[in-house]
Amino acid sequence: MSFSLMIHGGAGTRSETVPENIVIASLNAVLAHGRTILEKGGSAFDAVTECVRLLEDDPIYNAGRGAIANANGDYELDAAVMNGATLEAGAVACVRNIKNPVLLARQVMEKTKHVMLAGPGAEEFARTLNTEFVTPGYFQEAAPKIKRESHGTVGAVAKDMQGNLAAATSTGGWSAKMPGRIGDAPLIGSGTYADNAGCAVSCTGHGELFIRAN
Ligand code: GLY
Repeated sequence: MSFSLMIHGGAGTRSETVPENIVIASLNAVLAHGRTILEKGGSAFDAVTECVRLLEDDPIYNAGRGAIANANGDYELDAAVMNGATLEAGAVACVRNIKNPVLLARQVMEKTKHVMLAGPGAEEFARTLNTEFVTPGYFQEAAPKIKRESHGTVGAVAKDMQGNLAAATSTGGWSAKMPGRIGDAPLIGSGTYADNAGCAVSCTGHGELFIRAN
């Protein structure tokens, strides 16, 4: 019985702005956590969700706490999850003040009939749950520590011991993006996809290109 787990903590110029040893240590800690879930027979879906949650909590990535601001200085976050065993998926786009968008994306999948909720509607849904909200200062607090120019989207893909695949992705999008801009990360089939019959995918890079290439 084998399993696989891969994570990413961003492409682009991030490595020039955060010392590589810090990034590697962070990624290794997240990998170790995900590995523990899979070693115990946990699901690929749980492993990728947990890995992305941890990456969102680390301010060195452009997701969750470390998200970069849009052109107005606001933080609008995208995230998605997909379960390759069932083809169920959940996503949130352009959400504000949500500590862990990947967890809200999972709840969209598990608690609604929909695949994606965006903006105020997604936040309204979050308020009906035990979602952890933060103030904009949560993001701004992290921002001055790191020069933010890159697109360090985070993500994870996994195969568990049952052979099931899953993928999860989370991002703050592009630096100084237009308010309301949605990238590839929450679009199932663009930035995030998983199907046991095929593969699991979590993209990082220029979302507009992934959206066009599907
Ligand atoms: N790939 C992340 C984004 O473009 O938003």
